[in-house]
Amino acid sequence: MSHGEPRRVAILGSGTGSNARALVEYSRGAAKSFTVELIISTRSDAGIVNVAREFNIPYVILQKNDWVLSLERGIDEAHCDILALAGFMRKLPTSTIEKLSGRVVNIHPALLPKFGGAGMYGIHVHTAVIKAGEHTTGATVHLVTDEYDEGAILGQDSIQILPGDSPESLQERVKRLEHELYPRVVDAFSREMGIRTRHA
Ligand code: GRF
Repeated sequence: MSHGEPRRVAILGSGTGSNARALVEYSRGAAKSFTVELIISTRSDAGIVNVAREFNIPYVILQKNDWVLSLERGIDEAHCDILALAGFMRKLPTSTIEKLSGRVVNIHPALLPKFGGAGMYGIHVHTAVIKAGEHTTGATVHLVTDEYDEGAILGQDSIQILPGDSPESLQERVKRLEHELYPRVVDAFSREMGIRTRHA
C-alpha cells in the first residue's frame, strides 16, 4: 500500500446496513480517502448483505463455528487497513483487535461515555436516555478495545431531545446523525493514518 492510496475498509455488522450504505456512498464520492473492499455479516438475511450486493462489494457471511477464522481470513485476503463495525452484536476477540492494532472503529448511538457497555444497544439505548431525563443525545465513533464502548472517542455529534420524543423517534433521528458522522470520521481517520505512516 503506498501512502497516497485510499485506505481499505471492511465493514462488519448484522443490521439493516444503513451505516454501511452511508460509508459506501461517501467512499464513492469525491473524497476517496477510503474504499470499502469487504462487507462481513453474521447473517445472510441482514440488510447489510443487500448493500454489498447492490454496490457489488465482496461479502462474507460468518458461520456460527469458526467465525473468527473466517473474519480474520476475510480481512487478510482483502488487505483491509481498517475494520468498521456497524451493528455488530458479538464481542470482537482480542486477536482481531490486535491484528488490526488500533484500526478497529465502531459507531454507538449515544454520547459515550454515557449509555455504553453491555446491554446498551439498539432501542435499549434510547429508552435509557429518555428515562434518565437527558436533554441531548447523539452518536459516537470510537476505537474498539477489549472493553465494550471504552476506546478513545474519534468523533461525536449531538441532537436535542424534544418533549414528545419516544425511543423510536430518537432512534430515527440519531440514525440520520450517524450517517453523517461515521463517514466523516472514517475519512478523517484514513487521512490521519496516511500522515502518521508518512512521518513514521
Ligand atoms: C446503529 O445504530 C449503530 O449505532 C449501532 O448499530 C446500529 C446499526 O444500524 N452500533 P445499521 O445496520 O447501520 O442501520
